[in-house]
Amino acid sequence: MNLKNLRVNEHRLRTSLEKMAEIGQTPKGGVHRLALSDEDREARNLFVNWLRELDLEIIIDELGNIFGRRRGEQDHFPAVLMGSHLDTQPQGGRFDGILGVLGALEVMRTLHENKIKTERPLVIVDWTNEEGSRFSPAMMGSGVWTGKLNRDWVYNRTDIKGKRVGEELVRIGYRGEKEAKSFPVYAYFELHIEQGPILDKEGIKIGVPRGIVGIVWADLFVEGQSNQVGPTPMEGRNDALCAAAEMILQVEKLPQDMGGNMVATVGEIHNLPNSRNIIPGQVRFTVDIRSWDDELLRRGKEYLQTQVQKIAERRGCAFRWEDIWMINHTPFAEELVQLVKKTAAELGYSTKEMVSGAGHDASYLSQIAPTAMIFVPSIGGRSHVEVEETKWADCAAGANVLLHCVWQTAAGRAE
Ligand code: GLV
Ligand code: MN
Ligand code: MN
Repeated sequence: MNLKNLRVNEHRLRTSLEKMAEIGQTPKGGVHRLALSDEDREARNLFVNWLRELDLEIIIDELGNIFGRRRGEQDHFPAVLMGSHLDTQPQGGRFDGILGVLGALEVMRTLHENKIKTERPLVIVDWTNEEGSRFSPAMMGSGVWTGKLNRDWVYNRTDIKGKRVGEELVRIGYRGEKEAKSFPVYAYFELHIEQGPILDKEGIKIGVPRGIVGIVWADLFVEGQSNQVGPTPMEGRNDALCAAAEMILQVEKLPQDMGGNMVATVGEIHNLPNSRNIIPGQVRFTVDIRSWDDELLRRGKEYLQTQVQKIAERRGCAFRWEDIWMINHTPFAEELVQLVKKTAAELGYSTKEMVSGAGHDASYLSQIAPTAMIFVPSIGGRSHVEVEETKWADCAAGANVLLHCVWQTAAGRAE
């Protein structure tokens, strides 16, 4: 067979995506499948069963990253790696991450049924805790695997209930034996939904990201004084929530103050004791700042730190800033970016170069191996929400681009 005619099976891809979406499904058609939860375990089990059906060598490392390895004719050659993540945001969507894993699975299935051999080994991966919602930071599995995050520090990260990553990995049965350490990777490909409005708005099939923005995560702690709301006069209060409110608006204004090319968000807030008739005494909230410009990101963070400190002082509140995570912007490998673009065009799909505003495991991967991503449209640009949606034909188009990039990079041939 002429490999140029090879296509994935859209129906099979859809069926797998729908089956996976049953695990943690929410009433409004989304998925709630937080990292290392019971739902995550169930999703992993299903994925591992699918890998078994293809006779792949299954490797689970000490961070719970799951790999399915297909032998190459030159099996000692560095592998072509493809994948993403199966965990979701709280009340998240059915496609973010999942398409990258199940799209890669569909690529494996297509190669398998067509008896295509590749010179290089092919590996599919599900990275642990990409979302960073239950346990921060994000991209834990790929971060440790690429040597950018420390394993024991990651094991000790806790969720809101005090549960640790290391213990939760054991509890769900996915703390594997193998050291979480990179093997030689010839190229890494990650298929993903765009999660923004551009492709859908412009009617383009395939987005070709040139790289991923830099990200800063921090936790901010404000301490004021709790008291009875009635007898305590308005003058002289140290209301931690009001101080936090002012700080949050400062976060929103940060991109404007820094001159653009930046987004800044407070997404999570914890108010104590959280009672209608107690003046709030303690507040913790998260800050997420993103920019393609690392220097601007750094300056923005410093500027914000001084601004929020001033607010705390003026309001007589104690204040602490805790750095959680920082990752520089990551440009992808030019030759792979061009390969994705050319391959999509050869398959008859329109393309557009862009920048990813969302974080991806591809950030860490690009620091150790040539990396590229393939984006497909998100309807209405909605993502990290239950209504996250991508047309099945677009999912298949993305998987076809992945398939063709992969067989070319891994030097495939028909029997
Ligand atoms: C990952 O989902 C991100 O926060 O962009
Ligand atoms: Mn994702
Ligand atoms: Mn996400």
